[in-house]
Amino acid sequence: MALPPLTGIPHDLVAACDYETRARRHLDDNAWAYLQGAAADELSLRNNLAAFQSIALRPRVLRDMRRGHTRCRLLGDVFEHPLLLAPIAYQRLFHPDGELATVRGAGVMGAGMVVSTLASSRFEEVAAKASAPLWFQLYWQGGRAASLALLRRAEAAGYGVLVLTVDAPLSGIRNREQRAAFALPSGVAAVNLAASPTMPPLAPGDSAVFGGMMALAPTWADVEWLRAQTNRPILLKGVLHPEDAAQAANCGVHGLIISNHGGRVLDTTPAPLDVLPEIRARVGADVTLLLDGGIRRGTDVFKALALGADAVLLGRPYIHALAVAGALGVAHLIKLLREELEVCMALSGCASLSEITPDRLYLPH
Ligand code: FNR
Ligand code: LAC
Repeated sequence: MALPPLTGIPHDLVAACDYETRARRHLDDNAWAYLQGAAADELSLRNNLAAFQSIALRPRVLRDMRRGHTRCRLLGDVFEHPLLLAPIAYQRLFHPDGELATVRGAGVMGAGMVVSTLASSRFEEVAAKASAPLWFQLYWQGGRAASLALLRRAEAAGYGVLVLTVDAPLSGIRNREQRAAFALPSGVAAVNLAASPTMPPLAPGDSAVFGGMMALAPTWADVEWLRAQTNRPILLKGVLHPEDAAQAANCGVHGLIISNHGGRVLDTTPAPLDVLPEIRARVGADVTLLLDGGIRRGTDVFKALALGADAVLLGRPYIHALAVAGALGVAHLIKLLREELEVCMALSGCASLSEITPDRLYLPH
C-alpha cells in the first residue's frame, strides 16, 4: 500500500534528489510506472542524466559574492530564480489535490508553472490558487477550432504564455511496453477536455500512423495560424534540431523549450543539454531558450545556463516532492534546488545568472 502524503518534511531530505527515493513509498506501482517510465529502451532518458554528469565545473575563486542573486526576466515577467515546473499530466495520480497542491507550492517559491492540457484539475481552479505566473501547455486537439477553444479558456483564466508541445503530435503517443499496465484510476481524468480527437476512418492499406495519427497533428502552418490568434507569447516545446529552432523564430514564436519530453516519446534522441549550444548559436541571443530533461541538482541548472539556456523546467523531481508532501514538498524541492544553484554560483564566482558562462565548465574533448 502506498503511504499517504506527509504533513511535514523529514530531516533526511537534504538534497533535491532525495525526494525520488522517498516518493517510491508514497506511490502505487501504477502511478510509479507512469511517472518514471520512458520510451522503448529508455536510452533518451539515460542520455538526459548522463549529459549533465559528463560535464565538469571549473570554479573561479576569491570573488566578492555578497550581492549575488538568481533573478531573471522571462517573456515579460521577473522571476526570483530560473526554475519553472514543466507540464505534467494527471497530477491527481500522485497526490489527492494534484495540480492544486502543485500550484500552491510553486506560488510559495515564486516558480512559474506550466499547466498541462491533460491536467486533472480545472484550469480555472488552478488559476484561482496561483500566486506566481501560470503558463498553459497545449496539446493540439486534432484541429483548429478545438485547439482555439482551449486556448481561449486558458487566456480567460489568466494564463500568460502559450506552450505548444510539438514532439508528441497527440498526447497519446505511447510506448506500449512501458505503459501496458498503466491505467487511469477512477477519479483521475483530463477534466478540461470534452472529448479526445477521433482518428479519421482509414481506407484499406492506409497507414494508421501517417493517415490516422498524423492527420490530427499540427504543422508549421498551424503554428503560424496560432501565432495570429493570440497576443500571448508562444513557446514550442520539444525542439531538438537547430533548423526547427530557426524556423520557429521565423514564424514569430518567442521561444523554445529544448526537450525530448523526458525521454518518453522517441527513444535514442540526444540529450537536450547536448544540442543546446548549437541551437543557441543558430537562433542568437534574442530567442528565449528553456531546457528540460534530467535536471536533478543545482549544478545541472548551472550547466544548462552556462550552455545557453535562459531558464530550466523541472519534470519528475517536483512530482516526487508532490507525492511525498504535497504543496509543502513542492515548495521545499524548489527551495533546495535554488539553494543548490546558489551554492554552485557562489563557488564558481558567478554573482548573477548572466555571469554563468561556458568558461565555468570543463567540457570533455
Ligand atoms: C510529462 N511531460 C509532459 N509534457 C507535456 O508537454 N505535456 C504533458 O502533459 C506531459 N505529461 C508528462 C507526464 C509525466 C508523468 C512526465 C514524467 C512527463 C514531459 C515534461 O513536461 C518534461 O518535458 C519532462 O518531464 C522533463 O524531463 P525530467 O525533468 O522528468 O527528466
Ligand atoms: C506523457 C504525456 C501525457 O508524457 O505527455 O505522459
